[in-house]
Amino acid sequence: MTDGVNMGLEGLVVAETRLSHVDGQAGRLVIAGQDLADLVRGETFLGVAARLMAAAGAAWPQDPDALAAAQTAVFGRIGPFLAAARGLSPVAALRLGLAMQETDDPVPLLAAGPVLLAAHLRARQGLAPVAPDPSASLAAGFLAMLNPDQDAALRQSLARGLDVYWMTVSDHGLNASTFTARVIASTQAGTMAAVVGALGALEGPLHGGAPGPVLDMLDAIATPAAAGPWLRAALARGERLMGFGHRIYRVRDPRADVLKAALRDLPPSPRLALAEVVEAEARTALAAHRPDRPLETNVEYYTALVLEAVGLPRDAFTAAFGLGRMAGWLAHCAEQRRTGRLIRPQSRYIGPMPDGQAAA
Ligand code: ACO
Repeated sequence: MTDGVNMGLEGLVVAETRLSHVDGQAGRLVIAGQDLADLVRGETFLGVAARLMAAAGAAWPQDPDALAAAQTAVFGRIGPFLAAARGLSPVAALRLGLAMQETDDPVPLLAAGPVLLAAHLRARQGLAPVAPDPSASLAAGFLAMLNPDQDAALRQSLARGLDVYWMTVSDHGLNASTFTARVIASTQAGTMAAVVGALGALEGPLHGGAPGPVLDMLDAIATPAAAGPWLRAALARGERLMGFGHRIYRVRDPRADVLKAALRDLPPSPRLALAEVVEAEARTALAAHRPDRPLETNVEYYTALVLEAVGLPRDAFTAAFGLGRMAGWLAHCAEQRRTGRLIRPQSRYIGPMPDGQAAA
């Protein structure tokens, strides 16, 4: 808060939602009426997407073939996308590909992301795109489009890890990207415009851009013995430790534990032992650095390990996050539209006035 101006909108409640509840003091996350840990135990990502749309009072097809048909249609137009996306980062390519989908229907928007991202990641390795498998789940189908030669049993276990990850990040209150989606939807612009804008908001390192840099940090630290000195030196230089701190949580982010548990079912991560030491050292260093401000592990820390174990390149982590958060964005757009209210806050003018007087 600067002189009556709430720059970060902290504590401001600007929406009612049935989609998710973030309790930052208790470290609790409820999505579509269920605690996160219970939800991921009994659901799939598509099931969570359907629950979120139902909670928003929006239509969602019962027919599982609707998504498969949408993916096939996206794949039918993949050539112009790949040509236009050449040389772009994965998240920029995903943004472009979504903008090329001429639809505001949530089903093709949710279905398109895995097709676009897989084809782009293959194209930059000089590999031809692989058509979607209509019988596969969204996560298994994504992995099959990325790497069709992968062992089927391995793919199923990786797909479950990815599905848990997507459920875990599917919705999270009024975070920056979801707020962006709601602002755009509130102008009665289309849903495609809203999710493209939301993805833009997700890209920054203070939001969804952190997990790649988490791996960079672990690479730079390299050994458990180096963790404490490296982290303290980074803090002394005024740097932020990626994967720690949160606007809402004052305790450990509950998503960190769900993702850490998901790692147990994935191929053993050679980084896990180092990551645990770095996490403990970082929490100690942050407590000493800012004794007044609890700075705990956030979702992005173990996201980095999960997405690496699933086999994604680190520069695709933010795009992979977007594929999961898409479920929340789509539901929030529907919920926002039902209010019919334009989101339009105010600014205080501090520039010159023509008459030299201060602005009223
Ligand atoms: N490392 C070091 N210091 C930190 C960290 C961190 N990870 N996080 C916050 N701080 C410090 C800030 O420098 C600030 O100090 P100051 O008051 O002297 O400037 C103080 O703690 C309070 O931080 P704020 O910026 O007010 O916290 P805010 O709520 O705005 O930020 C955020 C939350 C952006 C996540 C922050 O903790 C951060 O930058 N973390 C590192 C990046 C990261 O992990 N991003 C992923 C977030 S999770 C998600 O969006 C899915």
